[in-house]
Parts: sequence; structure tokens; C-alpha cells
Amino acid sequence: MKKAKFITFEGIDGAGKSTHLAWFAETLRQRGINVLVTREPGGTPLGEHLRSILLSQPMHAETEALLMFAARLQHIEQVIRPALQQGAWVVSDRFSDASFAYQGGGRGVALAKLEQLEYWVHADLQPDLTLLFDIPVAVARQRLSNNVTLDRFEQEKSVFFDRVRQAYLERYKKYPQRFALIDAAQTPDQVKVELEKIIVSI
Ligand SMILES: Nc1ncnc2c1ncn2[C@@H]1O[C@H](COP(=O)(O)OP(=O)(O)OP(=O)(O)O)[C@@H](O)[C@H]1O
Ligand SMILES: [Mg+2]
Repeated sequence: MKKAKFITFEGIDGAGKSTHLAWFAETLRQRGINVLVTREPGGTPLGEHLRSILLSQPMHAETEALLMFAARLQHIEQVIRPALQQGAWVVSDRFSDASFAYQGGGRGVALAKLEQLEYWVHADLQPDLTLLFDIPVAVARQRLSNNVTLDRFEQEKSVFFDRVRQAYLERYKKYPQRFALIDAAQTPDQVKVELEKIIVSI
């Protein structure tokens, strides 16, 4: 059997991560793989409490970064590592690249500080594969326009998401071997074709 893989989905709000993650996980299961689906911030009872705070309470940008990594440490120790050790594949809706994109690019937290947190929290663990759903900000915002309520991040302006998108692309440039770039502006069927190609290659 193949070694258990840790796969993350990344991209700005409205890119289509959650929509396609469900399909991706189901497709892996049809191939006989035991898959655990999880998300950040969240993935544990404590992490979900922190998520509701992070998505609603105004706070200092560095507090936000620290809480994201605190939730992440709990997620890694309580969920991600145990699952991988038992042979399950873990597919997470966001992980540390999101902190570099949102807290780093979006909010302006220093890259060096985020790198220190990354080293502290998971020096020995990185995703085996990260699917970056890249999309023009205007297209993603249009998709979210039907939502009745928007969380603290979704309420940010276009320029914030432009910075987040660019910071994601910087992570892709820094770690090209770990990333697969998905053109998320395509139709859902076209995105699935891209995902299918990735599934057969892993
Ligand atoms: N390829 C697509 N074409 C058109 N609409 C799409 C596509 N993918 C997703 N959508 C729609 O766009 C909206 C946002 O999708 P989704 O919730 O999957 O995004 P997300 O990346 O998970 O966003 P968030 O980061 O806010 O959770 C949903 O209404 C979804 O149905
Ligand atoms: Mg989502």
C-alpha cells in the first residue's frame, strides 16, 4: 500500500476549495483509500472554538497568527499525526500556507515570525501535496456574493485578497515540488478533470 499522504487545499475565499475537496476525498475513497477530511482553523473541539473566535472577533494581526498556529498544533497532535500513523490519508481544507497568505500577505505579519511559528509547530511535517486553487479576486468575490452572512475574512476588501493571492503564489514559487496549481476560475467539470489527473499521479 502507498504511504499515507497529507494533502492540503488552499486558495482565497470563494475559490472552490470546499466544493471540490468533498469530491476529491470521495474519489480517493472509491480507490480504496481510507481518507480523513478535516479543516483549518478547526479540526478539533478546541480548534473549532478558536475558529469561531478567529472568524468573528477583531484582534491584533499577530494575535490572529498565534491563535491560528495554536489551533494548528492541537490539530496536528490530536488528529493529523495519529491518522497518518494509522495509514489514513489526511485531506485538510487549509493549513500553514493559509497563514503565510492571510496573516502574512493579507495582514502584513512578518514572514520571519510566521516561519518561526511554522518551525515551532511543525518542523518535521509538511503536506505531501498542496492544491492551490488560484482565481482572480473578482471572480471569487462574485461567487460569494450570494452568501447571506460573511465572516471576518470574507468581509475584507479586494485589495486584501489581492495580497493574499499573491502571497499564496509566492509559497508556490518557493515550494514548486509540493504544490499543484489549479486554475479555479474554470467550470466545476474542468476543475474535476484537473483533479482527476492529479489523483492518478499520486
Ligand atoms: N468552478 C466553479 N464555478 C462556479 N462556481 C463555483 C465553482 N466552484 C465553487 N463554486 C461556488 O462558489 C462558491 C464558493 O465555493 P466554496 O465554498 O467551495 O469556496 P471555498 O474556496 O471553500 O471558500 P471559503 O474559503 O470561503 O470557504 C460556492 O457557492 C460554490 O458552489
Ligand atoms: Mg470553504
